[in-house]
Amino acid sequence: MLIAQITDLHLLAEGRLVYGVVDTAAYARAALTALSKPRPDMLLLTGDLADAGEAEVYTWLSGELDALGVPAYVIPGNHDLRAPMRQAFAHHGYLPQDGFLHYTIEAGPVRVIALDTLIEHQPGGLICEQRRTWLAERLAEDRRTPTLIMMHHQPFLTGTSFDAIGLEGREAVEAVIAKAPNVERVICGHMHRGVIQRWAGTVASVCPGSAYQVGLDLVDPTRFHVVAEPACYQLHHWTKEAGLVSFTRTVDDFPVLYERAKK
Ligand SMILES: [Fe+2]
Ligand SMILES: [Fe+2]
Repeated sequence: MLIAQITDLHLLAEGRLVYGVVDTAAYARAALTALSKPRPDMLLLTGDLADAGEAEVYTWLSGELDALGVPAYVIPGNHDLRAPMRQAFAHHGYLPQDGFLHYTIEAGPVRVIALDTLIEHQPGGLICEQRRTWLAERLAEDRRTPTLIMMHHQPFLTGTSFDAIGLEGREAVEAVIAKAPNVERVICGHMHRGVIQRWAGTVASVCPGSAYQVGLDLVDPTRFHVVAEPACYQLHHWTKEAGLVSFTRTVDDFPVLYERAKK
């Protein structure tokens, strides 16, 4: 089972550029083209689909995903808004008609639990008691099937400026997930950079941005700068023999430096 993840597309309407310089629509088109080779069984989009929550952006993305023909599932990030997302992706049939945009995907050998960490118009995220209870109930339903949890905000501390806009309520969520040994991975977005942390007895990981990256400066962690490091996506590949193995791929191809001749 091949699960693709793209994140933080930050699309803007009418061809406007993020920070005045980043053409995120071009990045999104390139990412969707790249990840179709090979075609995954499902595609997970871990939030910040839009940069400013504009309805027409979700409509555009929904059309692109329909054209791709891969079952695709979205959750909101802090730049998103629930109402226009719910409307644009309603025909996919998996989003609840009201309340939080969380759900489960029961298809294939890996179960997916999608969590909504959004506080609208705020950069940081939250798992409140209601959302935590929902998660605990979903996990209690199935303690055997390998499970992947997706959420936008990273639920762990990083020593970077992203800690100030991380996930409120993370300690309580950690306690819930730690009781579920079948959680193979917690996959996130938000940081625009590949990050991995052992957390809640499992592996939590942030997928690099599928558009721009945020620069890493551990000398001055308060510095925020956007860099043209390669756009990436991740492939979470499940096989019975190896379990869940996660790969990071760049959207653009690079020159082959050497290739061994086939025998
Ligand atoms: Fe983002
Ligand atoms: Fe974000």
